Amino acid sequence: MKKVICIVGSRNHASKGLAFCNELLIRLKDFYNEIDYKILTPNDYFLEPIDGSNETFYKGIDKKDDIDDGSVIKHDLEAADFVIFCTPVYSHNVSGDIKILIDRLSYWGHIFKLLGKSGLTVTVADSNGFIQVDEYIDKILTGFGVDVVDNIILTRKDDVQKFDYLPLIEDIVETFQPNYKIKVSTFTESQFKSYKSSIQKQPHENFEYRYWSENKLFYSETLQDYVDKYLN
Ligand SMILES: Cc1cc2nc3c(=O)[nH]c(=O)nc-3n(C[C@H](O)[C@H](O)[C@H](O)COP(=O)(O)O)c2cc1C
Repeated sequence: MKKVICIVGSRNHASKGLAFCNELLIRLKDFYNEIDYKILTPNDYFLEPIDGSNETFYKGIDKKDDIDDGSVIKHDLEAADFVIFCTPVYSHNVSGDIKILIDRLSYWGHIFKLLGKSGLTVTVADSNGFIQVDEYIDKILTGFGVDVVDNIILTRKDDVQKFDYLPLIEDIVETFQPNYKIKVSTFTESQFKSYKSSIQKQPHENFEYRYWSENKLFYSETLQDYVDKYLN
């Protein structure tokens, strides 16, 4: 069974992004029965904003996980094979709810926590500001190590019912095949290079240093080499 987690950053019960993701996942399940999927919106969970300390980066522990649903969301993301981030465009940016989630997950960007998974971004706007948001949300997800196979943008002119789902479903199902090769983006490769040199200099008890060391991340020339050696 493949697991799909889909986080939709809209509280609107009539959300177009939510309608799109629902439709996509129903059709995906019809096409490829061997999936379990879960859709979460901020109406389903409670997530506190960060307190601004950078403790998560060097300790690897997020204290807020004890008082809200942080650990549930993180667990769902870690357990998934395929990750979907869907955001509405609010004032040329992601929604506040998605930004809170991204802030809470920031430290995952230094350790490529979601490496080995594939994913998709969905950006929903009326008419403008979506290009920056599409690029941003893609950067965030690829920065966590996700192999993002498609970036969907929906605007006012796009009808959820008339969307051509099949090519997208085929792209997703391809990632479930045993011979599928995870790809590392140019952006993630440059992040790998830069974090490698800075994390190597950290005190050895730091969370990031320990994570890189325990996962043998220091020893690969590129992240693609690492993925090919251990995950592909
Ligand atoms: C506070 C707010 C700000 C918005 N800002 C923009 C914007 O900058 N550009 C745009 O094209 N649409 C903007 N919209 C429209 C939403 O992107 C649009 O309603 C979209 O469908 C929201 O996604 P959802 O339907 O999944 O909730 C805004 C809507 C709200 C409520």
